[in-house]
Amino acid sequence: MCGIVGYIGRREAAPIIVEGLKKLEYRGYDSFGVATINGCIELDKHQGRISDSSSSTVNLKGKIGIGHTRWATHGVPNDVNAHPHMDCNNRIAVVHNGIIENYAELKRQLVSRGHVFRSETDTEVVAHLIEDAYEKEEDLLSAVQKVVPRLTGSYALLVIASNEDRIIVARYASPLVLGVGDGEFFAASDMTPIIDYTERAIFLEDGDVASLTQDEIEIFHEGKRVTRPLELIDWSGEDTKKGGFPHYMLKEIYEQPQAFYNTVRSVTAETLPVSVKNAESVTIIACGSSYNAGLIIKYILENTCAIPVRLEFASEFKYFPPPIRGLVIGISQSGETADTITAIKQAKAHNCTSLAITNVLASSISRTADCTLFMRAGPEISVAATKSFIAQLAVLMQITSFLRNGEFDDILRSGHRAIEEVLLIDLSDAVSLCINAHSIFYVGRGPFYPVSLEGSLKMKEISYIHAEGYAAGELKHGPFALLSPETPVIAICMPGETYGVMISNIKEMKARGAPVIAIGEEGDLELPEVADIFIPLPVTHPLIQVLTSLIVLQLLAYYTAVSLNRDVDKPRNLAKSVTVE
Ligand code: M6R
Repeated sequence: MCGIVGYIGRREAAPIIVEGLKKLEYRGYDSFGVATINGCIELDKHQGRISDSSSSTVNLKGKIGIGHTRWATHGVPNDVNAHPHMDCNNRIAVVHNGIIENYAELKRQLVSRGHVFRSETDTEVVAHLIEDAYEKEEDLLSAVQKVVPRLTGSYALLVIASNEDRIIVARYASPLVLGVGDGEFFAASDMTPIIDYTERAIFLEDGDVASLTQDEIEIFHEGKRVTRPLELIDWSGEDTKKGGFPHYMLKEIYEQPQAFYNTVRSVTAETLPVSVKNAESVTIIACGSSYNAGLIIKYILENTCAIPVRLEFASEFKYFPPPIRGLVIGISQSGETADTITAIKQAKAHNCTSLAITNVLASSISRTADCTLFMRAGPEISVAATKSFIAQLAVLMQITSFLRNGEFDDILRSGHRAIEEVLLIDLSDAVSLCINAHSIFYVGRGPFYPVSLEGSLKMKEISYIHAEGYAAGELKHGPFALLSPETPVIAICMPGETYGVMISNIKEMKARGAPVIAIGEEGDLELPEVADIFIPLPVTHPLIQVLTSLIVLQLLAYYTAVSLNRDVDKPRNLAKSVTVE
């Protein structure tokens, strides 16, 4: 979690850093700060969100600077714990994304040597350690090189010193990308703050330390000079803006037809790794929405290809690893989820072949896994996963189609059209019911059960209404006790084998006083009779109905949250990229 930005060049650094931090707020937004070099170090940091602030930060002077937007781990969100952190003499400033696991021991040592700490953060030890190393030789690069081997945990670090015209950066297990402009360089947690200025990027490897001056970037690994490839990023600056939509989430929901179309076309027989083509069993490891995508595909792969699929929460896998063999797939939009990356490492240690499915080029998961399939969703800024979820399904459905000798290729290649249609569905009656709900149940069967899990996750995370997804048949084994007129049920009820039993389930729920919103197929005559509100979806293939029903649930959560005046793009207590266990 946390976002960092650094700039060195001919322009004033602070405005560039402030704008960059606003784009990284999806990584954390409880406090922010910037430090620049202007003879001495100028520092400005505050509790709160940089996007809400009309603060003085942007007026800091200097053409070299570093900044941070925080998701608190060590110490409450307040002005003092906000980054950057300084050494005792205010000559060195540090911003950090990650966790220094051995900070307590390092802090004890530093305090015993007379260092005075101001904050409760783990990060501050880095500033004081560099201070010690810097005093000996007054060379910031070599001071940082001496300090990083002493740190345990994860870090992307940007460091400046008041009398050096450069930024020293270091990375281990936290993302860090360098932007290469003309006579200027950028460093950031991802490309979003950089893409407006340059599309040329360098992704650092774990253990790299680099020095950025106005003229050049020098990269070192274990003390030796190394080169890293220059990559061209095909995102545009517009992709990272709201483009006229009131929220990123709505924009990203509307980008789903394109995300699905682009991703489906990117997964071909040529791009599929051999391990996937020959898979006899699959283990999927993921968290949150990515886990729900995995569960949808478990239903689909097992039922259409007879391939056994085991699904594991990455956070459980680490401590309770099941016996696994064969292909292990890690799904992660950000590619930085700590639990998923650890699980992939463990799977590799068990001699499994690992495949990452991610949206972010050169992300940690793609460096860890044996091979990677990239989604083509483009940058997703809103904390709630939407287009990345649809793109994950696009990759996994393409794999399914390949394993069925292309059976679903045509269906998937035209799937974006049905997605476009559902974006226009009127949900106002359903929203009116939801905004007054005390709690909402979502139910479905087969792949529509994980669709209900994902729908309920969207609702709870952005509207703060308690919502639970259930396999429809399970509701009567306990949760029925909670049904009441204030507890609507959203039932996904598509034609097929389970249609009849779903209708019976809906009647049972109605008989217990719960209002029912039914999502079904256009032309259905029974659902409008049995449900209070019927939301018709286009007639299409069951694979695509998984997508269309899901998108309706995203929109329902979105409009409910907007009606309740929630902070849709930055829901309370959350961050998009969960880089802590
Ligand atoms: O980046 P990842 O896909 O690994 O993230 C996993 C979860 O944190 C994520 O899917 C989360 O549940 C969503 N943001 C919820 O909308």
